[in-house]
Amino acid sequence: MGWYEAVGRRLFFSLDPERSHRLAQRLLGLPLPWGRIGGAVDDPALRTSLAGITLRNPIGLAAGFDKTCAHLDALGSLGFGYVVGGTVTRAPRRGNLHPRIARDPARRALVNAMGMPNPGAEAVARILARTARTAPRFVSIADEALADAVGTAELVEPFVDGIEINASSPNAGWEHASSHTGELVRALRARTSKPLFVKIPPFTAGDDDRAQAVSIATAARDAGGSGIVCANTLPVADPRMSTGRGGLSGGPLTAGTPRMVAEIVDVIGPDLPVVACGGIFTADDARRCLDAGAVAIQVYTALIYEGPGLPGSLTRGLAASVRTMH
Ligand SMILES: Cc1cc2nc3c(=O)[nH]c(=O)nc-3n(C[C@H](O)[C@H](O)[C@H](O)COP(=O)(O)O)c2cc1C
Repeated sequence: MGWYEAVGRRLFFSLDPERSHRLAQRLLGLPLPWGRIGGAVDDPALRTSLAGITLRNPIGLAAGFDKTCAHLDALGSLGFGYVVGGTVTRAPRRGNLHPRIARDPARRALVNAMGMPNPGAEAVARILARTARTAPRFVSIADEALADAVGTAELVEPFVDGIEINASSPNAGWEHASSHTGELVRALRARTSKPLFVKIPPFTAGDDDRAQAVSIATAARDAGGSGIVCANTLPVADPRMSTGRGGLSGGPLTAGTPRMVAEIVDVIGPDLPVVACGGIFTADDARRCLDAGAVAIQVYTALIYEGPGLPGSLTRGLAASVRTMH
C-alpha cells in the first residue's frame, strides 16, 4: 500500500469533496518535489504526437481539476504528458449551489454538478501568463454564446498549446450542440492555427445519445477541428446534488470508454486523433483505449482515488506493455 492509500486519501476523504479539493490546490501551490512525487518514468517509448504536439507520454490531465489554471505548472511537473485547465468562460461564474460534488468510494466514482465555476477568461489569461509551462497545456472553453466563446479563446490562446471545446458539460445548456460546435470550431479555426479539440458526451451503442455524440464529432471534423476527446461525464439523476442531477465519472465509465473510442474512430476516420477519457485508472485501462484507436488518454477521477503517484503507475505500466509488445 502506497502512502496516499495509507494516509493521504484517508485525510482527503475525511473532508467534504470541495474542501479536500481546496487543500489539494493549496498543496500544489507549494514548492514540493512534484516530479519525485509523481514518479513518472521518462521513456522514449511513451512519446507520442497529438495533433502535431509532442507529448512525453500519452497521459493527460482532464479538464475540471484545475479550473483556474493556477497549478498547471505543478501538475505538469507531476509527469502528465499534457494538462487541460478550465473549463473557463468569458465572464466569471460562481457555478451551482452546494452540494455539487459527491464521492461513491465503493465504485471509485464521483458525481458532480459544479456548473463551471471559474474566475473568467481575463483572470485566467493573467494566471497563465505567469505560470511556467512544464508540459504542453490546453484550456477548455464552453461559453453558450458564440461571441463569448471566441472572446475566451482569444484571451487564452497566446498562452496555450491548444484549445479544448467542452461541447458536452451536463451542467451547461448547449442546445443544438452539433451546429453550435461546427460554428464555433469554424470561427476559432479562422483565428488560430493551434489544435482545437472537441469533447463529446458519452454514449452507449444504438441510442439517441450515440447519434448526438457522433453528430458533434462529425461537425467538429468537418469544421476543421483537430481532434476529439471521448468523453465527458455521464448525466445521472442524483438527489445529493443541489440541482438533483450531475455527471458521473470514474469506475462506472471504465468499460464503456474503449468501446466509444473505437466507434468514434470508426465514424470520423483515421485523420483526426481521438483522446480517451472516462474511468481510466490503470495502465491496462489506458492500454485498452490506445488499442481501440486513441492517441492519448485523460484522467481526472483516478487522481482523486489513486493520488499524485498516478502518472508514475500509468507510465511504468504503459512502458512495460510497450516493451512486451515489441
Ligand atoms: C468534479 C469534476 C469537475 C469536472 N469539470 C469539468 C470541466 O470543467 N470541464 C470538462 O470538460 N470536464 C469536466 N469534468 C469531466 C472530466 O474532465 C472527465 O471528462 C470525466 O470526469 C471522465 O473522466 P474520469 O472518469 O477520468 O474522471 C469534471 C469532472 C469532475 C469529476
